Amino acid sequence: MEQTQNPEILQEKLGFFGKSPQIEELLQTILMVAPTDLSVLITGESGTGKEVVANAIHRLSKRKDKPLISVNCGAIPEGILESELFGHEKGSFTGAIAQRKGYFEAADGGTIFLDEIGEMPLNTQVKLLRVLETSEIMRVGGSKSIKVDVRVIAATNKNLEEAVRNNEFRRDLYFRLKAITLQIPPLRKRKEDIPILVKKFSDEFVRKNQIYFKGFAPEAIELLKQYDWPGNVRELKNFVETAIILNRGEIIHSSYVRSVLNLNQHSATQEFLPVPLNKSPDQAERELIYRTLISLKLDITEIKQMLARLIQAQMDLVQNKVIFPADSPIPQDDSKEVKPTSMSAMERELIKETLKKFNGNRRKTAKALQISERTLYRKLNEYGLS
Ligand SMILES: Nc1ncnc2c1ncn2[C@@H]1O[C@H](COP(=O)(O)OP(=O)(O)OP(=O)(O)O)[C@@H](O)[C@H]1O
Ligand SMILES: [Mg+2]
Repeated sequence: MEQTQNPEILQEKLGFFGKSPQIEELLQTILMVAPTDLSVLITGESGTGKEVVANAIHRLSKRKDKPLISVNCGAIPEGILESELFGHEKGSFTGAIAQRKGYFEAADGGTIFLDEIGEMPLNTQVKLLRVLETSEIMRVGGSKSIKVDVRVIAATNKNLEEAVRNNEFRRDLYFRLKAITLQIPPLRKRKEDIPILVKKFSDEFVRKNQIYFKGFAPEAIELLKQYDWPGNVRELKNFVETAIILNRGEIIHSSYVRSVLNLNQHSATQEFLPVPLNKSPDQAERELIYRTLISLKLDITEIKQMLARLIQAQMDLVQNKVIFPADSPIPQDDSKEVKPTSMSAMERELIKETLKKFNGNRRKTAKALQISERTLYRKLNEYGLS
C-alpha cells in the first residue's frame, strides 16, 4: 500500500492520469473502496475513463490475481445475456447442446465488470439483484443454486435515476448499486488534466510506434483547454495520436489545433472524423488513425489524377480538342475555352467551366472531374470560386 500512496506512482501503475482535484479525490476513493468487496457503480459520460477505473479497482483489490471479466450488457443480445452471465444447463433452450458456465462462474474469486448496466433487460436485473444479495447464481434451466464469490463493478453513461423514473431500471437494484458511486466528471469540467493527459498519450504513442516527435508548442496545449471535448478523454487521445501522425517530425502549433478543432466556430472533431460505433475503444482509435491516413492518401491520389488530366487537357488544347469527359455535353461557347497560363490557372478554369456546365451543381462537377466533393470544395475556396 505504501508505494501506491504516492499519487504519481499510483497513476503510473493504474494508467489513470490527472492533476485536477476531482481526479485526485477519485483516486483516494478508489484506494478506499478497492480492498473491500463492496459493489461499485461507476458513472460518467462516454470516454471519461469508466473502464480504466474498473480495472484500477480490480488491480488494487485482493482479487487482483483472479480474473476480471468484462461484460458489455449493451452489446449482448437480450435473449442470450442471461445465459452468458449465469450459464445454462444442457437442453434448457434450443441450441443449449451442452452445459455451459457463465461469466459469474468464470469470474469466481475475482471481479465481474458489468459495463453499460443501464442496457440490462429488466428480467435480468431481477436475477442480478438476487446474485448480489445471496452470492448465488442459478444457471438457465437449472434447479440448484451455485455459490459464487464475485465482486461486482457496474458502469453506465446513462442517468439511472431517470431510467428508474421511466421504469427502465429497477429501483431496488439501483439503490443496491448506487451505495458506492464513483462519478467521473467530464473532461470539460477538469481541464487542468489536459496537459498531463496529452503528455502521457503522446509519450506512449511515440514509444509504441517508434515515431520521431518534437512535441506540442505550449500555446497549442493551452488552446486545447478552450475546446469542450464532447468525446472526453477518448477524443483527446484520438486527437493527440492523429496530430502526431499528421505532423510527423514537426512541432504541433496552435494553428493546427485551431483548424482541426475549429475553435473559432463551435464544432467537434467527431464531425471531422467520426469514431465508428460497436467497436472497442482501442479498435476505434486505431481505425480513426488509419482512416485519417487513408483519406490523406486518397487526396494525394486525386491530386495526381487531376494533374494527369490537366496535362492531358493541355495537350488536347494544343491540338484544339475539347477538355471535357467524353460523356458530357460539349460547351456551347467556344470563346470561353481555357486559356492555359499556369497549372493552377488551368485547374481553376477547368473547375469554373465544369461548374458552369452543370449549372453550379457541385456534386455533378466533382463527378465529371473525378474528384471527391471534399476536394472540389477545397479547391473552390482555394481559387476563390465559392
Ligand atoms: N484519466 C485517464 N488517464 C489515462 N487514460 C485515460 C483516462 N481516462 C480515460 N482514458 C483513456 O481514454 C479512453 C476511454 O476510456 P474508457 O474506455 O475507460 O472510457 P469509458 O468511460 O468506459 O467510455 P464508454 O462509456 O464510451 O465506454 C481509453 O483509451 C482510456 O485508456
Ligand atoms: Mg467503457
